[in-house]
Amino acid sequence: HNHIDFATAAKVAAAIAAEDTHPHIPDYEAFDAYRAAGGYETLEALRAGAKTPDEVQDEVLASGLRGMGGAGFPSGRKWSFVRAAEGPRYLAVNGDEGEPGTFKDRHVLERTPHSFLEGMLIAAWAVEAETCFIYMRDEYPAVLHILAEEIAALEAAGLVAPGYIDLRRGAGAYICGEESAMIESIEGKRGLPRHRPPYVAQVGIFDRPTLVHNVETLHWIARIARKGADVFGAHGVNGRKGLRAYSVSGRVKNPGVYVVDAGQTITQLIEIAGGMLDGHSFTAYQPGGPSSGLLPASMNDIPLDFDTLQEHGTFIGSAAVVVLSDKDRARDAALNMLRFFEDESCGQCTPCRVGCEKAVKLMQADTWDKDLLEDLCEAMSDASICGLGQAAPNPIRLVMKHFADEV
Ligand code: NAI
Ligand code: SF4
Repeated sequence: HNHIDFATAAKVAAAIAAEDTHPHIPDYEAFDAYRAAGGYETLEALRAGAKTPDEVQDEVLASGLRGMGGAGFPSGRKWSFVRAAEGPRYLAVNGDEGEPGTFKDRHVLERTPHSFLEGMLIAAWAVEAETCFIYMRDEYPAVLHILAEEIAALEAAGLVAPGYIDLRRGAGAYICGEESAMIESIEGKRGLPRHRPPYVAQVGIFDRPTLVHNVETLHWIARIARKGADVFGAHGVNGRKGLRAYSVSGRVKNPGVYVVDAGQTITQLIEIAGGMLDGHSFTAYQPGGPSSGLLPASMNDIPLDFDTLQEHGTFIGSAAVVVLSDKDRARDAALNMLRFFEDESCGQCTPCRVGCEKAVKLMQADTWDKDLLEDLCEAMSDASICGLGQAAPNPIRLVMKHFADEV
């Protein structure tokens, strides 16, 4: 691995400049403003020994923070796994926000990039990471531009050594957001998911223990480290606790990211997003990305949060909520989802590669062959290597269950 030419933020900045792209750069809180408001004081205090990594890990655990990429794994437990594995260790940020309908990380990065960067450096301090890799979606040119500038500002201020933060550009493959495929890509290889276990906490980048976090998770870690474990304390509705960033889109008046109390129902989210578009009535929704499938409007009273959708055969995932109306058909939306999975399958394993293609063909029939589709779904969810193939059947199953009259 000595031969790897570590990219620096400066190199990425130069590459972006050479491409002569002109991304629209939104107003955001740059280094000076963040620093003036007390930014990086927590990091500096921790580095100076104000608390031990164990203490901060306990705070993260006590806060209840769970992985905001979508899987909801307890963040503090991840730290403990990585710290228990023998070093040297790495940290990798999954910024490859590819889940259709998800744009919450972009929301953070285009507004408060330093809350994310400070969170990353605090996590890196806690696990003694030798390098921080940021794997950033290339379809976010403004974000890449912002990060390159702000990492350079951090280096200039002496808060990180030049090259400590290694900014990488993704190349548009959805599967490179799967953490082990992302790691393969960081290593310079084709992004193919690895078998798990071993988990990346033990065997990650160049076989070293690697802490992988989503952008939003790190943003919250900075808040927890600064304000304490009860950052989420008073928040939550419908019996749930905490805050969530819902990306709401589809047939609503004001699509956008809404950071609100966790546990909103779809009825509440539609209201928060300005109500249904004129002339549209609510019929169905995607609760958390295409791998979560579709639910009917009648199921409008479920608090949308981790663990609340399991009994309905789905999950909240990245909280990418897409609202459909009487102008849409659930079967068309599900077909679109499967076409996406067919396109984005890495092709490594047969149940997913062939299964997605076969499903797309079967779903185009006027009347679905439900027995055959159920067989196919079973093979895909049981035998696929990674989450893409395992979850791809969800839209099919949920449409057969809840929208039987359409298929
Ligand atoms: P997962 O539940 O298998 O793993 C979640 C995290 O916990 C991983 O970092 C994994 O390494 C870690 N982990 C789990 N068990 C562990 C153990 N025993 N020891 C050590 N570490 C352990 O979920 P996965 O496949 O990583 O992610 C699936 C989720 O990703 C879905 O909920 C989906 O919604 C979401 N997703 C989000 C996207 C986005 O753009 N934000 C894109 C695609 C999917
Ligand atoms: Fe690749 Fe699909 Fe297999 Fe995942 S399930 S490894 S995306 S072929």
